[in-house]
Amino acid sequence: MRRLRSDFAPSTAPGHAVITGGSSGIGLALARRLTSAGWDLTILARDPTRLAAANSELMQLRRNPEQRIVSRSVDVADDEAVAEVVAAAIAMLGPPALVVASAGMVPPGRFDELPLEAFQRAMAVNYFGTLHLVRAVLPAMQQRGSGRIVMIASGVALVAFYGYTAYASSKFAVRGLAEALRSELAPDGIGVSIVYPPDTDTPMLSAELTSRPAITSRLAGGARILSADAVAAAILRGIARRRFAITPGWEMAGLGRFHSLVGPVLHRWWFDPLIARARRTGEDRRDGRWLGAARSFAKRYIARWGALP
Ligand SMILES: NC(=O)c1ccc[n+]([C@@H]2O[C@H](COP(=O)([O-])OP(=O)(O)OC[C@H]3O[C@@H](n4cnc5c(N)ncnc54)[C@H](OP(=O)(O)O)[C@@H]3O)[C@@H](O)[C@H]2O)c1
Repeated sequence: MRRLRSDFAPSTAPGHAVITGGSSGIGLALARRLTSAGWDLTILARDPTRLAAANSELMQLRRNPEQRIVSRSVDVADDEAVAEVVAAAIAMLGPPALVVASAGMVPPGRFDELPLEAFQRAMAVNYFGTLHLVRAVLPAMQQRGSGRIVMIASGVALVAFYGYTAYASSKFAVRGLAEALRSELAPDGIGVSIVYPPDTDTPMLSAELTSRPAITSRLAGGARILSADAVAAAILRGIARRRFAITPGWEMAGLGRFHSLVGPVLHRWWFDPLIARARRTGEDRRDGRWLGAARSFAKRYIARWGALP
């Protein structure tokens, strides 16, 4: 039986890449690597100042002076605005060969402490933001007949846990979208990938560490913190190999393959006892600030391990 796959490998075919969240963290790390490899880029995010800084950094990394770097301010939760900026980018740089939905947000917290708006915003940015991008690029990619769409989910889209009711459900929705879309688009020559990063050293994680529950930090601490560049490198390796599921780091690689077996074991024998102990001692009512500070201190060193091949 013929395998469903697109014929796209980024290492061999520089073209136009569209990256939401391209002004920071994982999206910016990807943008840096693609620019150095000769790609034209459209980066999308909200804050014009950060976009301008990313744009001028990327301009310095160009392999040749003809490469074009376009940055536009847009909120991915706004479907009409996304359609508009993507149409303008395609008119300028052509149909994208690579599309990465990296824009995201995380509202950590216990379910009973989070306002309804946190759940709505997580879905609006993480799930609908991804969906809006795909709808905006798809007609041009179908016409082109090749390319790859990459959705950045999270390890919590494999095994969800304490403190991530809003975040994990939005990322599980992304996973459902990716899986169903993959089988629809493969006959068109368009590949779909989903990425399950562990905690990654980015501004998002630094902000999150100051507010997430202490228990969440202890549970997430089972996997190393990777650098954004290590995650970007893993993503590009995964794309070159036409992988559907891309799992940076060995912990995510294990979870990616065995999450349905490992998940219940983790919950029963590790998460539940730890949470029960924390309930008894009152730790579940404290936030993760101290643990977060300790992890922030350690992660600068630990992130180096993630950068190893
Ligand atoms: N860092 C981690 O530990 C980790 C782990 C697993 C998964 N992830 C996922 O990886 C992706 C990238 O996260 P990151 O860690 O690289 O975060 P980051 O450094 O904070 O970057 C997030 C990017 O998304 C943009 N963005 C956020 N909300 C947006 C919106 N509504 N519309 C348009 N752009 C928006 C941000 O720019 P503006 O704020 O200017 O809009 C920024 O460019 C996210 O989907 C995240 O859920 C991260």
